[in-house]
Amino acid sequence: MAISAWPRRRLLAGAVVALGAVPLTLAQSNEKTLIAHRGASAYAPEHTLAAYRLALEQGADYVEQDLGVTRDGVLICLHDTSLERTTDVRRVFPGRFVEERVAGGRLRQRWRVQDFTLSEIKRLDAGGWFGDEFAGVQIPTWQEAIDFIRGDAGLFPELKSPAEYDALGIDMVALVADTLRRNGLDMAGADPTTPVILQSFDETSLRQLAEALPTLPRVFLIGARDPNAAITNSRLREIATFASGIGPAKAIVAAQPELVDRAHRLGLTVTPYTFRSNGTDRFPTVEAEMHHFLFTLGVDALFTDNPDRFPRRP
Ligand code: G3P
Ligand code: CA
Repeated sequence: MAISAWPRRRLLAGAVVALGAVPLTLAQSNEKTLIAHRGASAYAPEHTLAAYRLALEQGADYVEQDLGVTRDGVLICLHDTSLERTTDVRRVFPGRFVEERVAGGRLRQRWRVQDFTLSEIKRLDAGGWFGDEFAGVQIPTWQEAIDFIRGDAGLFPELKSPAEYDALGIDMVALVADTLRRNGLDMAGADPTTPVILQSFDETSLRQLAEALPTLPRVFLIGARDPNAAITNSRLREIATFASGIGPAKAIVAAQPELVDRAHRLGLTVTPYTFRSNGTDRFPTVEAEMHHFLFTLGVDALFTDNPDRFPRRP
């Protein structure tokens, strides 16, 4: 089954049939899905329109967005829950940090997204850290990302740390669902040029999304250090009640390759992360690593920083 149950952008024109509320494609079992991780983030600063543009040029089927929420309640595209790694926030807002204690008892300064309005965030340079040629590019809102990608690839939004926002009274699930409804993208097949797949490490949020947006595919992410990383069949059966696929760290699949078949037998897709040219584990190249996972282990899709190196065929 696997990816054949997913809406794949290139296959959708004239190739979709409806089965209940979930669109099925007529994809061959060898069709694999390329998700540009944070855009083409090996070559351009992650989660900027520059990285998304390159992902489209490199043929991504889906472009991933990690989502955060500003102080004034706007969804933006950012991996971290704070701004200091990928922007010049330290320089622009030197006093606006909070101190948090981290492992070893050390204090760490964090410029949290939730403490800044969108207009403040738009003052930040989100590209200079990556390279001078990207200096001055901004963090996009999710709406800007949707407008930019729509028609050319699918969207693969991740709800990042929704429990942290929940504690502040911010309902990330509602924000995501409202945005998709406003854009007419809240139903599978609504725009065949722009399929949407939701993802999160947070089980509660995925369960809520299953209620709010029941026809959209949902991928449950599983980290390598997750206590449930040895994924039993009974856990897979439980996951299948609220998600349509799993997104395990690639080390999990490498350690238990039979997981792919076990998930497929329960109707779950398998989408490991993250494949990058500067982090290939036992493989000489990222192409070889992706090829092994796609065509030897049989995963359906994968997240990569290097969309241009995705092997389409066995
Ligand atoms: O969403 C899949 C993968 O991106 C999860 O890891 O930390 O890069 O969001 P991270
Ligand atoms: Ca992610």
